[in-house]
Amino acid sequence: MSASPAKPENKSETIDQRANALLAQMTLAEKIGQMSQLDASHGYAPDYLADALRDGRIGSVLNVADVNIVNELQRIAVEETRLGIPLLVGRDVIHGFKTIFPIPLGQAASWNPDLVKEGARLAALEAATAGINWTFAPMIDISRDARWGRIAESFGECVLLTSTLGAAMVEGFQSDDLSAPGAIAACAKHFAGYGAVESGRDYATTNVPETKLRNVYLRPFKAAIDAGVMSLMTSFSDLNGIPATGNEFLLRQVLRDEWNFDGFVVSDWDSIRQLQIHGLTENDKESAFEAAIAGVDMEMAGDAYSNHLAELIDENRIDVQIIDTAVANILRAKFRLGLFENASTTRADLPPIASERSLETAKQAALESVVLLKNDNAVLPLSAERLNSVAIIGPLSDAPYQQLGTWVFDGDIDLSITPMHAIHSLIGHDVNVRYVRAMENSRSKASDSFDDAVEIAADSDAAILFLGEESILSGEAHSRADISLPGDQAELVRRIRETGKPVIAVILAGRPLTLTNIVDQVDAIMYAWHPGTMGGPAIADLLFGIESPSGKLPATFPRMVGQIPIYYSQKNSGKPPSKDTIVHIDDIDTRAPQTSLGMTAFHLDTHFTPLFAFGHGLSYAKFDYQDIRVSAHEIGLDDSVTISAELTNAGDVAADEVVQLYVRDVVASITRPVKELKGFRRVRVEAHDTVTVDFELHTSDLAFYGRDMQPTVEPGVFHVWIGGSSTTELRTEFRIVTSK
Ligand code: NOJ
Repeated sequence: MSASPAKPENKSETIDQRANALLAQMTLAEKIGQMSQLDASHGYAPDYLADALRDGRIGSVLNVADVNIVNELQRIAVEETRLGIPLLVGRDVIHGFKTIFPIPLGQAASWNPDLVKEGARLAALEAATAGINWTFAPMIDISRDARWGRIAESFGECVLLTSTLGAAMVEGFQSDDLSAPGAIAACAKHFAGYGAVESGRDYATTNVPETKLRNVYLRPFKAAIDAGVMSLMTSFSDLNGIPATGNEFLLRQVLRDEWNFDGFVVSDWDSIRQLQIHGLTENDKESAFEAAIAGVDMEMAGDAYSNHLAELIDENRIDVQIIDTAVANILRAKFRLGLFENASTTRADLPPIASERSLETAKQAALESVVLLKNDNAVLPLSAERLNSVAIIGPLSDAPYQQLGTWVFDGDIDLSITPMHAIHSLIGHDVNVRYVRAMENSRSKASDSFDDAVEIAADSDAAILFLGEESILSGEAHSRADISLPGDQAELVRRIRETGKPVIAVILAGRPLTLTNIVDQVDAIMYAWHPGTMGGPAIADLLFGIESPSGKLPATFPRMVGQIPIYYSQKNSGKPPSKDTIVHIDDIDTRAPQTSLGMTAFHLDTHFTPLFAFGHGLSYAKFDYQDIRVSAHEIGLDDSVTISAELTNAGDVAADEVVQLYVRDVVASITRPVKELKGFRRVRVEAHDTVTVDFELHTSDLAFYGRDMQPTVEPGVFHVWIGGSSTTELRTEFRIVTSK
């Protein structure tokens, strides 16, 4: 029945020409069909889908991951519709498909773009076996609020880290050739500002001044577009009074006019109809109007477009050109994916699921993502030779599903290797390994089996506690107001502490937790996030020194929730705190005049610093930075400068270190952060070796959006630091001058 399968007329025909030629043949109903994506998860029989397809009511489906159904739907689309336009098949492939990699926040702790890219590549290859050709990832919302459940899906708080890793993920999913088997389209989300939801409550309002929007929240999206991302998803949230899904400033002015984005924009789930609930529109018809005018090309899982766009055009309220542009954006993506040449999936074209390469990469990603927060008296690594017995305790020791984290629709639990099993297989033949779960889950308040846990700890040479949050406590719609260890975990730690044995806490969680009430009760803390399928073997190797920890925090760890938002790149304020200006609530002299209390920007009942700073992470090696220097003390407005330092590993083991470069623009026409990450690199340093680390910085790397909302580089002094965390004090400076 297909009259025009839209094959290239000749080889030199461009994708633009093919898309436009196809568009010229389409009826309005067919165009609106392309702009509609249907949920194909439970409740929709394949027949229902097939009918909608044959009627030309859909251009895309989501949430079907059965290759036979997908192939049949593609066959109908190609063979039984008038124009034979294949489907975009979307799915949340967020951090793996069957093989699960660490949650994105964990991957961010690796600070390793190559590894993130490889993880996305492997996820795409696995997802493609199910006929999926479009993933709703990467999520690149800057997240500075650990209460927000979706921080788990993000790369954390930093603009450069998020931009770099987001771009790497895009390249991994899409590969060099989007039309090759196993390449899938990426979708950068959620455009924009979602990470700034008030009090970390998911879906809540965001208020972000335009300079901050441009200097922080929008930058990772620009980086994803520069990396070639095929699509963007709008945010559920309201941005400065205009919900993102109806926000013309974001979707037209910035995205199309300033950035020339030529991919397509999909709404979030039913977020067009939600414009009414936000209070922006009176009904679905007006919501369809606002979203279309703003520039949303495709509606996800709603029917505002299919029910109302035709009428709005009839009434001359929407110009058909708007529809044509949206459809052309979508069609170009289908052409680029090569779907018109072949929309069907042949399993044999793709590598096996959970291949050796996938599992090894998942283990490597977990290894590099674990952050050693604390290691008193070098209690870690544990030595299998010197230990006779070890106690494994806690609700997350042997929880194959929980270690996978949020957004694992397709993750295969049977592939998971838990820490308990991995430790058994690593040392079980030499060391007596005992295990008591102690709590049913992380939220449990029943302490009946704490005595059993204390007993095995007392009888062992060391206790390893697997604590944290199970996966359901983070992710979409799973925000928390109290981000300490839930349930009776702190009490469990206290009881185990009383045994006097070395206590090692391994935390599995989807967010930074406040650890203030346990930090002094344990000798070491390893932060493993939700480490994925191969989390167990990675953690076991790190605990027993087969590998050295090398992860660094991608987000600041507050001491208490009231410090939020606390992040390394804050502004200085006019009254910055220092350790000499602060007073603790317990030490206030009530007779003294108020002016003696410091009068700087801090809370009376906690420190002004976080518990663990952005970029922090210990190693079994001993890293020491010295001799920071610049290649030039003055550079021109369009110049580069090289900043170098010497990095020595004074320890006895070789290890990776993530070297970080920070900059401060000391005086500018709008105030700038006290530090901004401007470069980072993972380097391997042999024991007792010294390496030179250097970073080239171009003045364009220092540009910011100023008062006129244009990118600008201003002359003046720049402080630069190199080190192993954002608290590094190894500093020098250079100056940008106008005439050079
Ligand atoms: C809603 C989420 O906000 C979005 O991130 C996700 O991709 C879609 N649902 C589809 O599942």
